[in-house]
Amino acid sequence: MLTKPNKTFNHKHLLELQSLTKEDIELILETAKPFKTVFTRSIKKLPTLRGKSVVLLFYEPSTRTRTSFELAAKRLSADTVSIAVQVSSVQKGESLIDTAKTLESMKADFIVIRHSHSGSPHILAQNVSSSIINAGDGFHEHPTQGLLDIFTIKQKKGKIQGLKVVIVGDILHSRVARSNLWGLTKLSAKVILCGPPTLIPKDIDKIFPQIYIEYNLDKAIKNADVINILRVQFERQLEHLFPSVREYSLLYGMNKERLKNAKSDVLILHPGPMNRGIEITTEVADSLNSVINEQVTNGIAVRMAVLYLLSLNQNL
Ligand code: CP
Repeated sequence: MLTKPNKTFNHKHLLELQSLTKEDIELILETAKPFKTVFTRSIKKLPTLRGKSVVLLFYEPSTRTRTSFELAAKRLSADTVSIAVQVSSVQKGESLIDTAKTLESMKADFIVIRHSHSGSPHILAQNVSSSIINAGDGFHEHPTQGLLDIFTIKQKKGKIQGLKVVIVGDILHSRVARSNLWGLTKLSAKVILCGPPTLIPKDIDKIFPQIYIEYNLDKAIKNADVINILRVQFERQLEHLFPSVREYSLLYGMNKERLKNAKSDVLILHPGPMNRGIEITTEVADSLNSVINEQVTNGIAVRMAVLYLLSLNQNL
């Protein structure tokens, strides 16, 4: 039986982890736990959001996030509609705000948006009355990915505080890295960023003074509890920021030999989709250390928790 949380979550929208408190993040993680147990039942459905509608508005491709939000909403008995942007009036030049206002007029309770422009979800939150959930905006944030990564780590390691978490790869273009950074630092993990100097944002340590930067992957992963490997985002790299894919794999790819030098119980995370053979080898992706498939499962529980907690504040 689902009971209302004792702690309050005073947010109508989920736009980023930056503006959430440590307590907000902990409440989402705690709320996701019972939702995960729903998956083990033969009937994977709760009546919690019956009568609510969730519209998925994705301007960029997605497999995991869109399906996960849809399943999360359906498992809470909400009605879901997925807008196919390629065959919608967006192609006739309809603006983002007009599209959202149209959905608001149809009484969409939630709009889950993915967009290539950072800040798009914030613009919608200022212009429509529906609850807005950021499913990834440009280079800015991907808050539910950050939450599901942290949830997965906490389920496996029992805590976040004091864990050594290495985030490897294309930090510059990664909204996943930024959400992880905000979430993990608020929960007092020790975060190390590792990647080619051209893919580590200049002055990132001024925003996050508590983090470490290490350009050598073998040094970075020594004694790590968690290694979160980012996808090389070929579609976002407007200029060549490393000499070749081969050199990237050699210096920053996670392979079996490297894994041998890490702790035997190190967790391997990847947000997906993976470039197998580039940032991660198949042996590592499918190893016993890998929790990549579990991240996907946990994503539904975390998104159910987010939808549920936001629904408590829809009159704000
Ligand atoms: N991790 C993630 O955002 O994957 P998708 O692009 O498939 O949604």
